Amino acid sequence: MTILVTGGAGFIGSNFVLDWLKQSDEPVINLDKLTYAGNPENFASLTGDARHTFVQGDICDRALIDRLLAEHQPRAIVHFAAESHVDRSIHGPGEFLRTNIDGTFTLLEAARAYWSALEGDPKTAFRFHHVSTDEVYGSLKPTDPPFTETNPYEPNSPYSASKAASDHLVRAWHHTYGLPVTTSNCSNNYGPYHFPEKLIPLMIANALAGKALPIYGDGQQIRDWLYVTDHCSAIRAILAKGKVGEVYNVGGWNEMPNIEIVQTLIKLLDELSPRADGKSYAEQITYVTDRPGHDRRYAIDARKIERELGWRPAETFQTGIRKTVEWYLANQDWVANVLNGSYREWLAKNYEAR
Ligand code: NAD
Ligand code: DAU
Repeated sequence: MTILVTGGAGFIGSNFVLDWLKQSDEPVINLDKLTYAGNPENFASLTGDARHTFVQGDICDRALIDRLLAEHQPRAIVHFAAESHVDRSIHGPGEFLRTNIDGTFTLLEAARAYWSALEGDPKTAFRFHHVSTDEVYGSLKPTDPPFTETNPYEPNSPYSASKAASDHLVRAWHHTYGLPVTTSNCSNNYGPYHFPEKLIPLMIANALAGKALPIYGDGQQIRDWLYVTDHCSAIRAILAKGKVGEVYNVGGWNEMPNIEIVQTLIKLLDELSPRADGKSYAEQITYVTDRPGHDRRYAIDARKIERELGWRPAETFQTGIRKTVEWYLANQDWVANVLNGSYREWLAKNYEAR
């Protein structure tokens, strides 16, 4: 038994691989292109571990995927690989369409050919799990109920539109060809190995570097935050017990405006790593021009996965965010290694003209 994970050098994918091998001895083939967001340091602790095979490659490369499937005969594919950052999708949507749509299409076609040739138990047991996002449902008004699995798709950014397209392809490959798929639509994750272009790790890195803490618009946009290992356990539950063809919404029941997230981080940093001048990191808060088309509110109704699969998050926001800040403080080398030339170019592009 083996699983093929795509995007296992990114934030959630690497947490998933590390967690998987903590819970089981089932080998993982980890396929990742190593874009700016992929970082082999994330799984450095698996060096020499025969259960983990890393393959650098592109999910758009059909020949490579065919070869990996034939060679390793996985019983499941868990598909994380994507371009994932909304701001980058606004500056350059092309790569989002290529990886998120064409890449998912290529993977589905390869999976279909592989699965069609299987027989008996391996064919019945095979699963293609697609990791998606709550952003496909669009933006909620303040009094709207949280997103359920039957909410209409209303993606607003190039990123969410490309993820929505990939969700539709996955659905169609099940409906038309019978490919045994499951999909999860998850809310905002946070935790270790989160690339410091995203809100929480960016704020921690900037605070410690004495830089501005850039709040887009009025800072009242709401996200529903989930600790990353809870997302990983939800995916494991879906792989183990999920119903073929079903969609599961995954979330933390934890809606918070961005400014409160930043204030929480500031409080923790003031406690755990106070500024040398005795002042609060709050001094570094700076309001900047809003993100174009910025979604106001996301929230997930996670009752289906709880009712049908018995999954609930293990962490509260208070426990998860403290662990996260402690991790970043203990792993400043990891952050320093990420803050290379291309990352600095991104900061200039996204923040200098705001
Ligand atoms: P990430 O950007 O940290 O990692 C993405 C990984 O995919 C990187 O390792 C990158 O090298 C790899 N990759 C990109 N293009 C590739 C290609 N063409 N071929 C092979 N590998 C490629 O992203 P993440 O935050 O870990 O998100 C993982 C998945 O979860 C994505 O599909 C994303 O849409 C989804 N998701 C993310 C969140 C979140 O809060 N981060 C929430 C819900 C869903
Ligand atoms: O909802 C799930 C999604 O969450 C995932 O599908 C995406 O891959 C993931 O990147 C995340 O998208 P967001 O756009 O919500 O995450 P981000 O961390 O970029 O921003 C979170 C909020 O913080 C958002 O309202 C924008 C705001 N923000 C972000 C940055 C980087 C700021 O105010 N300042 C910033 O500098």
